[in-house]
Amino acid sequence: MAIVTTQTPAREAFGSRNVFILSAIGSAVGLGNIWRFPYVAYEGGGGAFLIPYLCALLTAGIPLLFFDYAIGHRFRGSAPLAFRRLHRAAEPLGWWQVLICVVIAVYYAVIIAWAAMYTWFSAELTWGKGNEEDFFFTDFLQMADVAEVGVSTTFVPQVGIPLLVVWVVVIAIMALGVRRGIGRVNMVLMPLLLVMFTILVVQSLFLPGAMDGLNAFFTPNWEALSDPGVWASAYGHIFFSLSVAFGIMVTYASYLKRKTDLTGSGLVVAFANSGFEILAGIGVFAALGFMAQAQGTDVAGVATSGIGLAFIAFPTIVSQAAGGTIIGVLFFGALVFAGVTSLISILEVIVAALQDKLGWTRIRTTLTVSIPLAIVSMALFSTTTALAVLDTTDAFINAFGIMAVAFISVIVVAWLLHKLPTLQAHLNERSSFRIGLLWKILIAGLAPIVLGYLFVSELIAKMSDPYSGYPTWFLGVFGWGMVIALVILAIVLSLLPWSGRSRAKDDPEYDEFLAEEHYEPDSETDTVRVHASPKNGEHS
Ligand code: ALA
Repeated sequence: MAIVTTQTPAREAFGSRNVFILSAIGSAVGLGNIWRFPYVAYEGGGGAFLIPYLCALLTAGIPLLFFDYAIGHRFRGSAPLAFRRLHRAAEPLGWWQVLICVVIAVYYAVIIAWAAMYTWFSAELTWGKGNEEDFFFTDFLQMADVAEVGVSTTFVPQVGIPLLVVWVVVIAIMALGVRRGIGRVNMVLMPLLLVMFTILVVQSLFLPGAMDGLNAFFTPNWEALSDPGVWASAYGHIFFSLSVAFGIMVTYASYLKRKTDLTGSGLVVAFANSGFEILAGIGVFAALGFMAQAQGTDVAGVATSGIGLAFIAFPTIVSQAAGGTIIGVLFFGALVFAGVTSLISILEVIVAALQDKLGWTRIRTTLTVSIPLAIVSMALFSTTTALAVLDTTDAFINAFGIMAVAFISVIVVAWLLHKLPTLQAHLNERSSFRIGLLWKILIAGLAPIVLGYLFVSELIAKMSDPYSGYPTWFLGVFGWGMVIALVILAIVLSLLPWSGRSRAKDDPEYDEFLAEEHYEPDSETDTVRVHASPKNGEHS
């Protein structure tokens, strides 16, 4: 006879601290590191950019990474549940982060699909010599102008079919769960990624003209340091790159064992991410140096923006360099692997949140979340207007999603709820690297100032000039409308009741955690739990 149980399924966990570290690095190292960082660094003054970049890493990236770890590990939940346990009124912050992940996931998948096709094209040199730019925009994306055609429904099969494959693969990984799916995939792909990228960088360094590229990348333009916009882009980049402030690190930390060195792990993740980023910069600019020499121009002339850098400049290098095919396969293959390990972390934020709220099984939640996301992703991004939609949603979600939620979260947690001492004590109790007053000053003082400044300057910039010259109705829907809808929806989701089987209602593991750690109740929800937990009596 089948046993029917109404108990909440056991919470997922990473197999070990090493698996967690690899998975967190897998999340951090993504498309942002490989095509975004080199260009942002170059724009921001080359070698001199490393100064604002390091400042952003040390004063905001790492402190906020610790902040996310502390919330996820202390309150042991997906973003909405962890914020709810911190304080009931903070739950919308968690849902806001989940919704940001929804938006990022639908466009992130399509860049992986492009990279997968370009891995194949590199082997065949499909684009034809000298035709790389036209091939990308006209032959491959079949790009149409939104001002003329509106949001197109014309299906582009060479994008739509690999996009479908990407979704099938990531859904399968997600359905396997944290330990068997996410953990294992990271254990395999991350070492592979490191090997591929190292070979790529070494090979790029031997290309003729490579040193010109490195000179362009590393020669400091000190004047850039006096430009506040350069500092803004360094801080902006570090959030996306480290995967902080969009729920990923909160969710991943909730899968860690009770006794885990959180800050020590955080430092490993942060420095591995930055190391990879700088390695990517070296590899990409060495290759651009070659391309500039081959075209008889300077590096500035070939260093185009993010999407262009990967999908136009690299194919050109592949066509022209000896061993170009290997460079292409390694580069685009690395983009696919880095992208997949980041995409699954983005999806985990959404799956974990709904699993916590509804008390459903892993597979049921994964399919319920991922299939509609895959359909939206296919509908918007395998058509001829995909690039405009992607460009707009990416720009707006970074400025008014990630940055805005980071800003509001530190204000709420530090200034309104006064929870920094709880988080600090939690980190220090179990970590090798102790944090003190400086961390609190950075989180409660510097972070809100920098984020507030960035938010306002982005608001002014995007309001005074239509982004990328797109039509007003288009920016209204995919830019402003989308970011405002996320906030409203986050509030609505936080008002919906938690299922009777959800972890917010019944979580023996969390009760045990509170009891074993001898925690003083720290919030309204903890108070209820600590008094209700029989084990706690034994410790008090
Ligand atoms: N951190 C991930 C990236 O850099 C999202 O792409």
